[in-house]
Amino acid sequence: MLALDQGTTSSRAILFNAAGENLAQAQQPFEQHFPQPGWVEHDAEEIWRSQLATARQALSGVDAAQVAAIGLTNQRETVVIWERASGRPLTRAVVWQDRRTSEDCARLKAEGHEALVRARSGLTLDPYFSATKIATWLHQHPEWRARAQAGELAVGTIDSWLIWNLTEGRVHATDVTNASRTLLMNLHSGEWDEDLLRLFEIPRALLPEIRPSAADFGHTTLLGGSIRLGGVAGDQQAALFGQGCVQAGQAKNTYGTGCFLLMHTGAQALASTHGLLSTRAAQVGAQPQFALEGSVFIGGAVVQWLRDGLHAIGASHEVEALARSVPDSGGVVFVPAFTGLGAPHWKPDARGAILGLTRGSTQAHIARAALESIAFQSADLLDAMQADASAEGIRLSELRVDGGACANDFLMQFQADVLGVPVLRPRNLEATALGAARLAGLQAGVWGEGGGLAVERRFAPGLSPGVDPRAVWRSALQRVL
Ligand code: G3P
Repeated sequence: MLALDQGTTSSRAILFNAAGENLAQAQQPFEQHFPQPGWVEHDAEEIWRSQLATARQALSGVDAAQVAAIGLTNQRETVVIWERASGRPLTRAVVWQDRRTSEDCARLKAEGHEALVRARSGLTLDPYFSATKIATWLHQHPEWRARAQAGELAVGTIDSWLIWNLTEGRVHATDVTNASRTLLMNLHSGEWDEDLLRLFEIPRALLPEIRPSAADFGHTTLLGGSIRLGGVAGDQQAALFGQGCVQAGQAKNTYGTGCFLLMHTGAQALASTHGLLSTRAAQVGAQPQFALEGSVFIGGAVVQWLRDGLHAIGASHEVEALARSVPDSGGVVFVPAFTGLGAPHWKPDARGAILGLTRGSTQAHIARAALESIAFQSADLLDAMQADASAEGIRLSELRVDGGACANDFLMQFQADVLGVPVLRPRNLEATALGAARLAGLQAGVWGEGGGLAVERRFAPGLSPGVDPRAVWRSALQRVL
């Protein structure tokens, strides 16, 4: 199985054998464009080139006939607009982190559209999602709208863009998990919602066909032979699936640039009353699957800031030793709201703060507070999730983790301490890629359903009763909200 994992900062490809072990992998970073404060863009052609190059590299020396299927997983919400005839993008992709449509979202909220959007899509009016990004293109370029209506243009999230390229323009499709992040899909029916299309003034002709996550997405002949594309899912839903979270109450947190906490809610879409999103979980077969989701925009990115902004460390992995060099944060609290706050607060205008500084404060205290902030923000999400889930009789008893930053033992122990539930770290941290491979494996009939990841370490909560490390965090948070 070949998994293609197209992330926010790099494209990766991992080849798995039938036992789910990594045989080969390749990774290529690509350029991030920041044309204005708050704007984030990617060159969609560079994304495609880097993804194809990593796929070819991971397959070097392998006969394409030995590859049962390709599973594709991707950064979600980021959108591309391209010309169907030439396959050329009209402009750069607008990335999920891009905040340029903040004012449009505020206006739509003020006009009273939030309730409809929430009820239909499970999401909230926030620039994070794709719809307002697409709407802005069409408002700024009336000629694109006319061409869109004439069926000359296509829009898609990164999965659609890669499927289009892998199949050389034969397939314009997406899967339900990716579609559920656009603000345009009806969460319940799994179809594009006419009222939402009207609200955002987006022609239906632009959009891809929505399919289950394990489905026939065509085949590619660009990798040395004909290989079918059998699985597609947004990266967070792929990780949930890869972690074996396929039943109500099972949850995972992925520690990447941001943190993404998802809890499976079975065949039931839960409407959050605590600021979380309802979204689709990966779908195998006809039965829709749902999840609750909360995301922390700045997770591991706070460590990048310590490295590149503050120059407190030379490499990301040095943060653990620096944080451990002091017994505690010395009263320093770090709220890394660099790009606003996501769930459960949804404050796009909030900005970061470091509080509690004294003359004794050092870079080590700030580094420790930075790591703690990742755990505090995740704990806020989990609280909201517990509150929504318990109203439905669902209880969360443990948290599975994956992503680069979960290799940090200090962070994982602190996470278990502040949550008060065990944190389970798998041996194979590639839950996202494995999830995509599994979906494709199911479709190809190579793998059966089920199976989580073997646990490498279980971090048990270890704080004495009565100690509440979150009190100072909560009061610091109030200062930036
Ligand atoms: O919602 C955005 C998310 O899918 C991005 O994930 O891993 O590329 O930062 P990642």
